[in-house]
Amino acid sequence: MVDALSRRRIATYTRMADGTQEDYLIQQELSQPLHAALANRVLTELIGLQQSSPANLISRYEHSLQTATRALRDDADEETVVAALLHDIGDLMAPSNHSAIAAEILRPYVTPSTYWVVEHHGIFQGYYFWHYLGRDRNAREKFRGHPDFERTVDFCHKWDQESFDPSYDTLPLSVFEPMVRSVFAREPWGEHTKKR
Ligand SMILES: [Fe+2]
Ligand SMILES: [Fe+2]
Repeated sequence: MVDALSRRRIATYTRMADGTQEDYLIQQELSQPLHAALANRVLTELIGLQQSSPANLISRYEHSLQTATRALRDDADEETVVAALLHDIGDLMAPSNHSAIAAEILRPYVTPSTYWVVEHHGIFQGYYFWHYLGRDRNAREKFRGHPDFERTVDFCHKWDQESFDPSYDTLPLSVFEPMVRSVFAREPWGEHTKKR
């Protein structure tokens, strides 16, 4: 099987239903470098947030660094700091539902609790401004009683809604980059995803 894989090096089916086990093993093997480079692509997308938030005092990129800086200074654990850094990463591609983008990118690499916080941070952030735009600022109340409700309130109150300040002593990306690489080096859907 290994010899066959190394000779052919490409899956040759033209419709998936005709693919063989050999095809799919090759595909799995050759996609490994793409998985290994995920942290690089995530960091590139994060830097791209410099183009986001034209109406704020700082860009969404600086907001992300500031949110992560506050989490780090509050002694949050590594995956929570990374979640704080990446929570807005879908902002340019999905401005109306960016929470879901960030949450799904993180999901195989973090605990279900951290996934839930990132997935719901958008609706929890609504508490601070939706009433000014004709929406219900208390929409998050439907989740009250969920085990991660208070954690998400804190994430937003202490770090996310707080981080639009150009005078804050925000740490540079180089501080957080090793943490991003560490989290994305975890086995996707490993034991960490089975914890509460
Ligand atoms: Fe957000
Ligand atoms: Fe944010």
